[in-house]
Amino acid sequence: MSTYPQLNELIELARRAGEILRAHFGKEIEIRHKGPVDLVTEADHRSEEFLIAAIQERYPQHKIITEESGLLEGNPQHCWYIDPLDGTMNYAHGVPLFAVSLAYVEQDCPKLGVVYDPIHNECFSAERGKGAYLNQQRIHVSTVSKLESSLLVTGFLHSYRAKQIANLEYFRRFLLVAQGIRRFGSAALDLCYVAAGRLDGYWEIGIAPWDIAAGALIVEEAGGRVTNINGDTNYFRPPFDLLAANPNLHFEMRAVLTGEAGATLVAL
Ligand code: IPD
Ligand code: CA
Repeated sequence: MSTYPQLNELIELARRAGEILRAHFGKEIEIRHKGPVDLVTEADHRSEEFLIAAIQERYPQHKIITEESGLLEGNPQHCWYIDPLDGTMNYAHGVPLFAVSLAYVEQDCPKLGVVYDPIHNECFSAERGKGAYLNQQRIHVSTVSKLESSLLVTGFLHSYRAKQIANLEYFRRFLLVAQGIRRFGSAALDLCYVAAGRLDGYWEIGIAPWDIAAGALIVEEAGGRVTNINGDTNYFRPPFDLLAANPNLHFEMRAVLTGEAGATLVAL
């Protein structure tokens, strides 16, 4: 076993974890509240237990950061980020839009990322420098460059209401200038849909690193531009605000976020 994981290994692990989610989907499962509107299901735990055990067996020295178990100490040069079920709220309500997100990060730089949607059998993946894929097909961000032609997506962190309220102002601004805005409830899939050109841009404030570690790399490898809300390309660090879009639209979206554009309604 080499010290460094290969993309195929992450794909295999994400697919197997996704099968666990699919097997429990729509069935009676235990749902707990981590906060007033923050849920965790038995499926989150089972998927995460599987991933942690598989990674620790193969790479016992590596550090692991997960949504449900927190930090598992190891060599910080080799770090895994696990979101065992991104879109837990959807899952708990029987909405078939959720994914496993798995990333391998070296010195705070995501190197390998996989997001697997087991219901639609869509496996998004990327290795830094080698392009982004949906199953076996190469994917690219869209070429839409005008906000009025763009379909955007955002999310609202459920564990911290103050950040949700702050994001409402951005939501209001984009609503006035974009063709449409979606809120699907899975940041990992939001990013992959931008990578595949289905959506044109994504922003969110106060997102967790396991939500975006894989998806942001997949957007970059699909030709997109990823920064934090302030435009810093060193986005993989607190407070994990994110803006991801095709390069032309990224510029336009930044102007709206900074308040230089988008404050008024476009003519209808
Ligand atoms: C959440 C989803 C949601 C995003 C939240 C995340 P979870 O993750 O990705 O789209 O808006 O910020 O916390 O709780 O479903 O794993
Ligand atoms: Ca998540």
